Amino acid sequence: MQRLLTCLLLAVIVQGTVAFGWNPVRVKDPNDPNFVRRVIGGIMTSNAELGGYIVAMRYYDMFACGGTLIQETIVLTAAHCFVNREKKDQWDFIGGISNLNEMAERHKMKDMIISPDFRPEDLYSDVAIVLLKKPLVGRNIGTVSLCTTELKPGMPVVVSGWGLTREGAKQENYLRTVTVPVIDWEQCRSSYNRTEVILSHTMICAGVRGSKDACLYDSGGPLVYNKEICGIVSFGIGCAHKNYPGVYTDVRVMKPFIEESIERLLSLKYLARK
Ligand code: ARG
Repeated sequence: MQRLLTCLLLAVIVQGTVAFGWNPVRVKDPNDPNFVRRVIGGIMTSNAELGGYIVAMRYYDMFACGGTLIQETIVLTAAHCFVNREKKDQWDFIGGISNLNEMAERHKMKDMIISPDFRPEDLYSDVAIVLLKKPLVGRNIGTVSLCTTELKPGMPVVVSGWGLTREGAKQENYLRTVTVPVIDWEQCRSSYNRTEVILSHTMICAGVRGSKDACLYDSGGPLVYNKEICGIVSFGIGCAHKNYPGVYTDVRVMKPFIEESIERLLSLKYLARK
């Protein structure tokens, strides 16, 4: 259930108000006492610097999740982003931006496929593939390909996102990134031993306990190794918790499903054009 608190609650988090009194661990930026770091322990970056692949996903115009552009019309994200946010035409996908307030081209989705195995209660198979109505191309926009490398403990992976803004609407919503090591699967599973979390083989862990991690509202965003997307931000207990590392959907394991879904979506697009 704790995962529901860390993830699904964002559906009821109105900007500026954290419901249920649950607060992620926050690290204050010494330069600005009001600044809440989103990606924990990371640095500010630009979308272009990363490679242009991170997409901001808004629902009813509220920032909801990150996503990754893997083809001009295909966004990879977390299935749990769509829990209680089911109106397809209320989603917007924005590419090439670094600051959430930037004006940029936004596109609607034409269709999407959520993993049929996805379970909201334990976030098993937390993956969704979105087909956009129009290609997301232009300034600062790029794509990344799907993971071909099996991640091993200690490998450095790059996590990025806008994360949660806790208070006040006036904060600048800059993109952040952090490089963290992959954590051994067995070790991660035993860290979660005394919780309700059961780590499955659709999940991989990464982070530096106590200092570097993704956080709320980073969900759906990319974990990149060697210019390939290998993970999708899924959940954690708290953020940069000393006991609980961040958990990501394992893209390499889910790859057959992801590729099949892309094919299905693209053939849909083709049919619709005729
Ligand atoms: N489920 C969260 C979201 O929807 C992501 C949490 C990631 N947490 C972590 N500690 N790595 O934004």
